[in-house]
Amino acid sequence: MAAAAAPKSNAPHIPVLLRPLIAAVAPVQGVWLDGTLGAGGYARALLDAGADQVIGVDRDPLAHDMAQGWGAEYGDRLRLVLGNFAQMDDYATDLDGVVLDLGVSSMQLDLAERGFSFMKDGPLDMRMSQEGPSAADLVNTAEESDLADILYLYGEERASRRIARAIVKARTEAPIETTLHLAGLIERCLPRSKPGQAHAATRSFQAIRIAVNDEYGALIAGLEAAERALKEGGQLAVVTFHSIEDRIVKRFLTARSGGGGTGSRHAPEITREEPQFTLKSRKAIGPDDEELAVNPRARSARLRVATRTDAPAGQSERSALGVPMLKGAK
Ligand SMILES: C[S@@+](CC[C@H](N)C(=O)[O-])C[C@H]1O[C@@H](n2cnc3c(N)ncnc32)[C@H](O)[C@@H]1O
Repeated sequence: MAAAAAPKSNAPHIPVLLRPLIAAVAPVQGVWLDGTLGAGGYARALLDAGADQVIGVDRDPLAHDMAQGWGAEYGDRLRLVLGNFAQMDDYATDLDGVVLDLGVSSMQLDLAERGFSFMKDGPLDMRMSQEGPSAADLVNTAEESDLADILYLYGEERASRRIARAIVKARTEAPIETTLHLAGLIERCLPRSKPGQAHAATRSFQAIRIAVNDEYGALIAGLEAAERALKEGGQLAVVTFHSIEDRIVKRFLTARSGGGGTGSRHAPEITREEPQFTLKSRKAIGPDDEELAVNPRARSARLRVATRTDAPAGQSERSALGVPMLKGAK
């Protein structure tokens, strides 16, 4: 499918937690991989802070179209890869650093034709890579119980069953093909939002987007791939946007830095492998007041940073990472 045109705004996406991120990984040097290139805010900051090269990965062709413009000044210090960060160790190894800034960009949300926003009418799409089954495919074909599970487990939507029932009823009359059709359906299942509260469709749209893009599968595979791709002393910095994502990153880094054991003195003595990471800090870093004043969207962002040790990369215990498991998922 052809890439959507890049938006014309001068500030297409305000990078979140950029200052604390660069401070946490300073001094920046060597080769970094930015697994979520977007509008290039992180990649540019890493190059300007001293990285020799940044490998900019994004699964959305839009990010690559945009990089044709801003990236020119960096010449071959910027290498672009159209792909999923879940496979980052296929693109590069021996890295000095990896950054991941999860979720969608403002450009993706702002372009009605991408179908991510419940505020703008567009085709019900939501595919970051612009390939594979869309949100409309999911919403019009999934079993009612699977839809309810997605809404509840990925969006923490308490009215998941009611909304799933309404979706299945509506699609027997006509397929649900637009964002506003779906948003209207969801709104009618819930009490009217009070001023200052999130839009009624926020949680459901987040859940459907996560399912369409297999965001949790990609995140776990990406963390494991980063473990393989980083050199000793290399740094992994991850910015999350909601509690489920942050829990996955926190549990992965805790487990891979030697924490998270059973804690039971009755547990059998097991030989522990050497930890693959050391944590820069136990607590996640959030936005300060100054950042919140200019970018309220940063409110729920959390940054976690860890440094790769010399221990060989291994296999993480996926079942202990707190990933919501849909029925039939492995
Ligand atoms: C929040 S934006 C990143 C913004 C970027 N840090 C900046 O400063 O402009 C997230 C980007 O990551 C991309 N993305 C999300 N998941 C991905 C994945 N698994 N592999 C590759 N790109 C992904 C999205 O397409 C989107 O462009």
